Amino acid sequence: MLRVLAVNGSLRDGSHNGALLRAAADLLPADAVLVEHDGLSVVPPYDESADTAPPPPAVAALRGALACADAVLFSTPEYNSSIPGQLKNALDWASRPFPENALRGKPVAVIGASTGMFGAVWAQAELRKVLGTIGAQVIDRELPVPFAHERFDAAGRLVDPDLADELADVLSSLVAGARFSDPFGELRIAV
Ligand code: FNR
Repeated sequence: MLRVLAVNGSLRDGSHNGALLRAAADLLPADAVLVEHDGLSVVPPYDESADTAPPPPAVAALRGALACADAVLFSTPEYNSSIPGQLKNALDWASRPFPENALRGKPVAVIGASTGMFGAVWAQAELRKVLGTIGAQVIDRELPVPFAHERFDAAGRLVDPDLADELADVLSSLVAGARFSDPFGELRIAV
């Protein structure tokens, strides 16, 4: 069974991005399972002088969860046309040691929801850029979810069948990437 780690860029109770990730759990291909990482809020501010062995516990947990995953699904809100600060902070920790970090060569997909009319497109683009810099294998798909407050019922279930189809399609690409993960990743790290 392939393990897809779900990382929510929002720390908010009742997060629409969290609801989107929970919807993804039911739409994954049959050979994959979604595992949520809920430790983002306790990751400390990145400090290179604290980036030692062993790292802070929340960082070790994050790096460990990423390392154990066959693929990672990020869902991000947009804050001021960019990604939330705590998500960027967590990724700065995850990027180290560079280049042999836990995201190197890892298939990752980015989706995102916002209550505005553009569905966190800029945040998704920025997140893909950051993940590419870190060395992840970024799936070339985006899933902007505008007006996120209208896409879920009171129980947080997705009520938009077209969106469910699009999400299933993104997940299918992500899991396909995990099945055929780059066999030359380690070679490229060495050169
Ligand atoms: C926002 N929001 C927002 N939306 C957007 O489409 N573009 C933006 O630039 C911003 N900027 C922004 C900044 C800050 C500080 C907050 C708190 C919010 C609105 C945002 O999309 C909305 O709050 C989402 O519901 C957040 O996602 P979660 O928490 O529901 O997952």
